[in-house]
Amino acid sequence: DALSQISNILTKWYIENKRDLPWREITDPYKIWISEIILQQTRVNQGMSYYLRFIERFPTVKTLAVADEDEVLKYWQGLGYYTRARNLHKAAKKIVSDFEGEFPKLHADILKLAGIGVYTAAAICSFAYNQPYAVVDGNVYRVLSRLFGIETPIDTGSGQKEFAELAQNLLPTQQPGLHNQAIMEFGALQCTPGLPDCVKCPLNTFCKSLQNNNINNLPIKSQK
Ligand code: ADE
Repeated sequence: DALSQISNILTKWYIENKRDLPWREITDPYKIWISEIILQQTRVNQGMSYYLRFIERFPTVKTLAVADEDEVLKYWQGLGYYTRARNLHKAAKKIVSDFEGEFPKLHADILKLAGIGVYTAAAICSFAYNQPYAVVDGNVYRVLSRLFGIETPIDTGSGQKEFAELAQNLLPTQQPGLHNQAIMEFGALQCTPGLPDCVKCPLNTFCKSLQNNNINNLPIKSQK
């Protein structure tokens, strides 16, 4: 059907076009967690050196858990939003005390860790364990709203529910982690916020908002 065709095109595009980033091609949930927390409020180019330094100093959950908070914060200096670093430290301690230092595998357990919300839990579960949880970030909102011509505002409860359901329907049972990375990278590199190059887009024949000449109005945010 159309949804599986779209997912196949996205993963093929991803394999041919993705950036080589240090937190890709790995399945260590700890490293994926650190990278996703850094990338929440930081651009890839700036986050890269912080990620590499952090992982070099704290290569495992246990090394992070036993560190002094001051030192953890030192490795965060310049990134801002220091609650992120405090939550990382707090969650690492909990993983040591409640899970014997082994990163949990259950979505429900991961979601309970400090600083981990729906997006980060889905990223860890799918990238590290290939569990079928769809990620929905800003890139995914943009790709889905344009592709399916959805005009529901993305910053409302009903919009978030609609996009989460659609993202989950589009997620293949085979290689959900690859699909999730693909749709995020597609939003970052091809289906860009400004003027995307739809002539070379591999999904242009499927794209509702291209057909309706509506690319630049999507996604829609409510005027809150
Ligand atoms: N932004 C958030 N997560 C990312 C990832 N895994 N790769 C690239 N950019 C990202």
